[in-house]
Amino acid sequence: MLRSTALGGTRSALVVSLLPGLALGQFLTGFYNPILPGFHPDPSCIHLKEDDTFYCASSSFNAFPGIPIHASKDLTTWRLVGNALNRESQLPELAISNGSTSGIWAPALRYHNGTFYVVTTLVHDKKAPEDPTRWDNIIFSTPDIWDESKWSDAVHFDFEGYDTSPFWENGDSYIVGSHAYRVEPGIHLSKVDLKTGEVKSNWTNLWNGTGGLAPEGPHIYTKDGYYYLMIAEGGTGLGHMETIARSENLYGPYDPNPANPILTNANTSEYFQTVGHADLFQDRRGDWWGVALSTRSGSEYITYPMGRETILTNVTWENRSWPVFNNPIKGAMRGWQLPRIIQNLPGDGPFVTEGDNNLQFRPGSEIPPHFVYWRPPIKENYAISPEGHPNTLRLKPSRLNLTALDGNAGGPGGQTFVGRRQVDTLFTYRVDLNYSPKTLEEEAGVTLFLTQNHHARFGLTMLPLANGSSSALVPHFRFDAISYIPVPPSFSIPLSASMQNKTLTMEIRTVNQTHFSFAAGSAKSREPLTIFAYAPGDIVSWGFTGTLLGVYATSNGGNGTTEAYVSNWKYEGWGQIRDNFAGPLVQ
Ligand SMILES: *[C@@H]1O[C@H](CO)[C@@H](O)[C@H](O)[C@H]1NC(C)=O
Ligand SMILES: *[C@@H]1O[C@H](CO)[C@@H](O)[C@H](O)[C@H]1NC(C)=O
Ligand SMILES: *[C@@H]1O[C@H](CO)[C@@H](O)[C@H](O)[C@H]1NC(C)=O
Ligand SMILES: *[C@@H]1O[C@H](CO)[C@@H](O)[C@H](O)[C@H]1NC(C)=O
Ligand SMILES: *[C@@H]1O[C@H](CO)[C@@H](O)[C@H](O)[C@H]1NC(C)=O
Ligand SMILES: *[C@@H]1O[C@H](CO)[C@@H](O)[C@H](O)[C@H]1NC(C)=O
Ligand SMILES: *[C@@H]1O[C@H](CO)[C@@H](O)[C@H](O)[C@H]1NC(C)=O
Ligand SMILES: *[C@@H]1O[C@H](CO)[C@@H](O)[C@H](O)[C@H]1NC(C)=O
Ligand SMILES: *[C@@H]1O[C@H](CO)[C@@H](O)[C@H](O)[C@H]1NC(C)=O
Ligand SMILES: *[C@@H]1O[C@H](CO)[C@@H](O)[C@H](O)[C@H]1NC(C)=O
Ligand SMILES: *[C@@H]1O[C@H](CO)[C@@H](O)[C@H](O)[C@H]1NC(C)=O
Ligand SMILES: *[C@@H]1O[C@H](CO)[C@@H](O)[C@H](O)[C@H]1NC(C)=O
Repeated sequence: MLRSTALGGTRSALVVSLLPGLALGQFLTGFYNPILPGFHPDPSCIHLKEDDTFYCASSSFNAFPGIPIHASKDLTTWRLVGNALNRESQLPELAISNGSTSGIWAPALRYHNGTFYVVTTLVHDKKAPEDPTRWDNIIFSTPDIWDESKWSDAVHFDFEGYDTSPFWENGDSYIVGSHAYRVEPGIHLSKVDLKTGEVKSNWTNLWNGTGGLAPEGPHIYTKDGYYYLMIAEGGTGLGHMETIARSENLYGPYDPNPANPILTNANTSEYFQTVGHADLFQDRRGDWWGVALSTRSGSEYITYPMGRETILTNVTWENRSWPVFNNPIKGAMRGWQLPRIIQNLPGDGPFVTEGDNNLQFRPGSEIPPHFVYWRPPIKENYAISPEGHPNTLRLKPSRLNLTALDGNAGGPGGQTFVGRRQVDTLFTYRVDLNYSPKTLEEEAGVTLFLTQNHHARFGLTMLPLANGSSSALVPHFRFDAISYIPVPPSFSIPLSASMQNKTLTMEIRTVNQTHFSFAAGSAKSREPLTIFAYAPGDIVSWGFTGTLLGVYATSNGGNGTTEAYVSNWKYEGWGQIRDNFAGPLVQ
């Protein structure tokens, strides 16, 4: 069994995970999954011949900036190029999305005649499936994928469904999408002008899939005189799978592959589950590769805080034959010879597994490109190195807390929160927080955040003493969690005098594969931090997104306006578990 072993203390640790049967130095065909760990679902990837680079887009739901694009030369190291959705003005409607599973679903990334396209859907998931305003289908394009500012505003087009993907032939552009399945099921095709969004023909149902739940995530490929229509079915949970059909005519009829499903980990005991929603591309040598989403949950499917991640596998696709995926998906795999790196990747974005090594928020710097807000931010609530507070990130509290009014909608004033993805099974996240709350209920701290209705937060707030010995307000540590399943109890405890009016280190850390700890201590002290709470990962294992680690500030509906200053932001991964793991972790 492949396993990761974590050794060492809080700050430094060693992870050992070897590909079975491979000696060091022989990694030419071996690679690890996931290739994009953490909240990177619904991958769509291309290989661009012009610069011999692979590019992948991921779903981002309510997170903003959205639609992260990663690039790689070797299929194993991936750098953040930028976010296709990086200005609120590109898609103002994201600000009023309601629902934890709303927002950007399944961007399809394609390159055609000098332009990159992302075709996707802003889904208002609280609306009924038959409500046409539930589905806001959009196209973004850019001539230069490395310059974030070049991405166009959203061009809207009419389609009552989601998972839309473009395809070109004879100078015409087409889009396939998953029609809202409870109304008129199936995968539909139409000619669409990608510049204007004009739908130029009626949507035609090409295929309903093999009978699995929710036929979705379609892509069309042409090869050897066939149109191949590859889709996901079975829902994005344990029954997820990829199926394919083909036709000699674009409009069908499509014949299903007798060997369907062509990619799935369903009905296996693999650590990687829910494999599906795939895309296909060739490298420079002509070898085929597939990407798909997967959760590292085991078949128990209980603890998977990082949600749906991006995996890679090799594919054999012979002439006039069906593509054959290497599956089941595992943490250590062997595929085709990995592309050799001839030129380094351009850009200065972080690599996906890089961590945050004591970010300083220096004067003149910007919020890093891998940080996200929940919906577009109220900009004035965030400032880097404001007057008198160099090397800090200043947070102004929002009236709404992380749950907001009902756990689903946002609201006026936004929610002051900024975070980054959890990308390691085992990690330590720490910030220093300079915050002295003054007003009843105002609060700032750190959070393990999946959605408004699935998170745990640990912060400082102003409360009267619980024993009523005085009506004076005293700063308290407060822990709160929310989920659809039972959460650890909320509590608040007065800060000891030695912790008041001091910069505190606030920490969220994994204690093992299933649990997180929440700790604090004086930032100046050399004493170990004190752990105040534990929370199990199953409370943030839900839905379509993956956990973020970040900071928040709120008046909790009250009148507080005290600002919080965040500094020394660290995220360090110290263990990546890639296979069923039963033994104790060495810490
Ligand atoms: C979300 O809910 C709010 C308040 O209920 C409403 O004003 C807004 O229009 C809703 N957004 C959408 C896209 O329906
Ligand atoms: C490619 O783009 C150029 C200009 O950008 C345009 O003139 C040409 O018609 C396009 N070709 C195709 C096949 O779409
Ligand atoms: C779409 O379908 C309608 C009704 O079936 C038909 O009248 C119309 O001509 C079709 N439009 C196009 C562009 O094919
Ligand atoms: C898909 O199923 C519907 C019935 O739900 C049927 O009317 C339609 O013909 C089917 N489409 C195809 C392409 O098989
Ligand atoms: C998994 O097993 C169930 C029950 O036997 C079956 O209905 C389903 O089709 C299987 N799924 C896959 C993808 O093989
Ligand atoms: C497969 O097709 C390619 C391109 O059409 C051709 O170069 C190659 O010789 C074919 N291979 C076989 C085994 O037919
Ligand atoms: C995957 O790659 C290995 C070589 O490492 C090869 O033996 C195997 O046939 C490939 N599988 C598929 C389905 O392409
Ligand atoms: C109330 O709680 C505070 C802080 O824990 C403590 O210092 C104080 O002695 C308590 N008062 C009474 C009456 O128990
Ligand atoms: C912290 O600062 C506040 C306001 O300046 C003050 O009232 C309080 O006594 C201080 N607490 C301690 C323990 O020094
Ligand atoms: C993980 O840590 C939690 C909290 O300390 C503990 O309750 C749980 O038993 C641990 N699980 C394992 C498998 O060690
Ligand atoms: C969030 O704030 C609302 C008031 O706006 C409050 O009712 C609710 O209790 C708060 N939620 C939590 C988890 O504290
Ligand atoms: C906020 O301030 C107003 C006006 O001073 C007051 O009436 C109200 O009670 C305050 N709200 C809270 C939650 O303290």
